[in-house]
Amino acid sequence: TMNENTTIVVFGASGDLAKKKTYPALFGLYRNEFLPRNVHIVGYARTKMTLEEYRKRISSYIKIVTKPMEKQLEKFLELCTYVSGPYDEDSGYKELANHLNSIEGTTPFDRLFYMALPPNVFVEVSSHTKRLCYPQNGRAKLIVEKPFGSDLESSRALQKDLAPIWTEDELFRIDHYLGKEMVKNLLIVRFGNEFFNANWNKNHISNIQITFKETIGTEGRGGYFDPTGIIRDVMQNHLLQVLTMVAMERPISFSAEDIRDEKVRVLRAIPAINPGDVIIGQYVASEDGTKPGYKDDEGVPKDSRCPTFAGMALYIKNERWDGVPFILKAGKALDEQKTEIRIQFKDVSSGIFRDIPRNELVIRVQPDEAIYLKINAKLPGLTMNTALTELDLTYRRRFSDLKIPEAYESLILDALKGDHSNFVRDDELDASWRIFTPLLKYLDQNTDVVPSPYAYGSRGPAFLDSFVASYGYVRTQPGAYGWPLTPAG
Ligand code: BG6
Repeated sequence: TMNENTTIVVFGASGDLAKKKTYPALFGLYRNEFLPRNVHIVGYARTKMTLEEYRKRISSYIKIVTKPMEKQLEKFLELCTYVSGPYDEDSGYKELANHLNSIEGTTPFDRLFYMALPPNVFVEVSSHTKRLCYPQNGRAKLIVEKPFGSDLESSRALQKDLAPIWTEDELFRIDHYLGKEMVKNLLIVRFGNEFFNANWNKNHISNIQITFKETIGTEGRGGYFDPTGIIRDVMQNHLLQVLTMVAMERPISFSAEDIRDEKVRVLRAIPAINPGDVIIGQYVASEDGTKPGYKDDEGVPKDSRCPTFAGMALYIKNERWDGVPFILKAGKALDEQKTEIRIQFKDVSSGIFRDIPRNELVIRVQPDEAIYLKINAKLPGLTMNTALTELDLTYRRRFSDLKIPEAYESLILDALKGDHSNFVRDDELDASWRIFTPLLKYLDQNTDVVPSPYAYGSRGPAFLDSFVASYGYVRTQPGAYGWPLTPAG
């Protein structure tokens, strides 16, 4: 349940994450009356800004599309105040504490601290906060975001530093993919439909692909991206979370701990990724020369081996999934932007059909949320020819009046309510790093392993299709099928 008296403190309030995600999400919640009735929003960062500058900055990514929204934004901004100060000295936190006490008055308030901060100041800020800004008569919550370390060792070290300061119950580790509508939907679709539930195993499924594609490269943020790479940036966290939701067993209940227990169990059944099951790529300039290559970015070392694309196969050693490859693919600067889960079923037994395509269940996470099942049907008419067609649940068509919330809106609301279901637990973090760390070490240490080039705007490295095919995926002939997406509007 939510405490109607809550102060939200955003650390790193002058940064990118705060501007692009945190404040727009807070406004979204405010607008739809989901924030606590008596809420204060306080920004804290090193940058000196006037209140006016701060309000201008935090609203720069908020899109005003209707007249009433203008008024709502004004009212929202009135709730937002700002304190500037250092991260490494008591003085700033004392000032922040005074400010919090003065706006809260004598009523007991909960405080939700949102760390929109680079990881090198996580521990420093959270320990100062605990010592100097901890609520005296209310509950405290701390939202933190990736990176949670860069391998198993550093993740454990970070956890070891945070654990004595904040209890697991106070900590909310965001993986924003867990806030996406379609990812949350997986539990319902899988366990709420006997039709899917019954087929969801190695007896019927040949392979599963989870694909993340972005059309933009790392222009301008190459310096940040280079030590990270696509595997740490989106695969160890976002795509593995999606895999977990696809593969986990049915939880005993929808309670946070029951769900997270099952997630950890399935992760523990995944052996460390074998480098032989991995391909990596790095983008070069687009074929027409209009888009730069990864290494053209000033912040990127000329000899960088950083993968901006990776494909890999994971296996789950349990009764449900033994032998079924889970293929993860992720890349920047590709031909399209989408995240999807593609579950390919086995061939029907041979005999009466020649070359009939396989069933595929596609769960489109974004954009254009949808679930569609590619099925064979008789081509209408006087022959017995077959056609590949689909059962299609396209959200835009079926739920046309509903707005799908932003991941951050949904997660901040969960944190306000104290619901941990969609946040990462400490042991889950450990289990996920264990799967990836040997691979990451292998790639870091073997200087002869270099990513294959692919052109900006292409589908990825040339051998991608044969890599995926080697795990049993059968691609529908190009032109033989296209998902009929309803045009927007
Ligand atoms: C972030 C990564 O965690 O997720 C970015 O650091 C990536 O590189 C982003 O672009 C993708 O999130 P979304 O919600 O836009 O799919």
